[in-house]
Amino acid sequence: MDLKRLSETAIDEVRKASSAEELFRIEKKYLGKKGELTKILRSLSDLPAEKRKETGKNANILKNTLEGEIKAKNEELSGKTKGVVIDVTAPGKRIEYGHLHPITQILNELIEAGKMLGFSVVDGPEIETAWYNFDALNTDENHPSRDHTDTFYISNDLLLRTHTSPVQIRYMQENKPPIRIFAPGRVYRRDSDATHTPMFNQLEGLLVDEEVTMSDLKGTLLYLVQAVFGEEREIRLRPHHFPFTEPSAEVDVSCGLCSGKGCKSCKGEGWLEILGAGMVHPNVLRAGGIDPKKYQGFAFGMGIERIAMLKYGVDDLRAFYDNDLRFTEQF
Ligand code: PHE
Repeated sequence: MDLKRLSETAIDEVRKASSAEELFRIEKKYLGKKGELTKILRSLSDLPAEKRKETGKNANILKNTLEGEIKAKNEELSGKTKGVVIDVTAPGKRIEYGHLHPITQILNELIEAGKMLGFSVVDGPEIETAWYNFDALNTDENHPSRDHTDTFYISNDLLLRTHTSPVQIRYMQENKPPIRIFAPGRVYRRDSDATHTPMFNQLEGLLVDEEVTMSDLKGTLLYLVQAVFGEEREIRLRPHHFPFTEPSAEVDVSCGLCSGKGCKSCKGEGWLEILGAGMVHPNVLRAGGIDPKKYQGFAFGMGIERIAMLKYGVDDLRAFYDNDLRFTEQF
């Protein structure tokens, strides 16, 4: 480094030093045994005579200046600490703890309750083939959910799964009954407003065994719903249609504010829709390689964000994904 630049940076560094330790390090860096300025002073004799005089003079000036600056800075820094008083009675700084996202909390509650009933948790891909997402689930070739306006396609055959139901098929192909699984995960639909986001989370349930009935389904769902919403809540099943279940039902939970009588929060209904369910369609069992003559099953799928909105009284779904701490800290 040439002397002029060295002088500028060295003085600048000394002036900016914010602690005695830092200042000591800077002093060593320039004036120590192997310091940059020391090196220059030591190598003066290697220089040609006409340069030696000039450089020697300037280097010595810099050395004196730097020593002066360091001395001044030292005084300034020690003066700073002299006056400091520690107030031992001052209240401490509160330590902020993080916590799980409300969606994760609800999922965990459901999964814990499912474990009590013998359900284990399995996973499936978020990028699916049309076959797993639709065909194997008995969905008609012309079903509207296949539309490009509803589903995110990656290619003709690949898409972002629109529900967690394809995990049913994948699991049945690899495992024989009895089957008792939960498949939580992200799903994607081309939808966006206060109650729909293009990505949301579902929890899929599948049970396949001999002699499984609709009342097993109802008992299971009641247990899960009460685990999340409280034991005073009831459920009801309304007839519905899904391609992959027969019979199918939409399931409602009794309103927590009016217990089913009807109020503003449930729009006078007394009930709030929370999930879809039904007995696994024989074609779906077949697609999974399971003999529908020997086995039956039930399945359900619920939107976790929807459950969280109902449980916490949140009316805009997007709040869960805005990462505004004033919102997420409430849970
Ligand atoms: N897959 C359905 C949905 O996304 C939910 C469902 C799952 C319904 C399993 C019945 C059985 O709406």
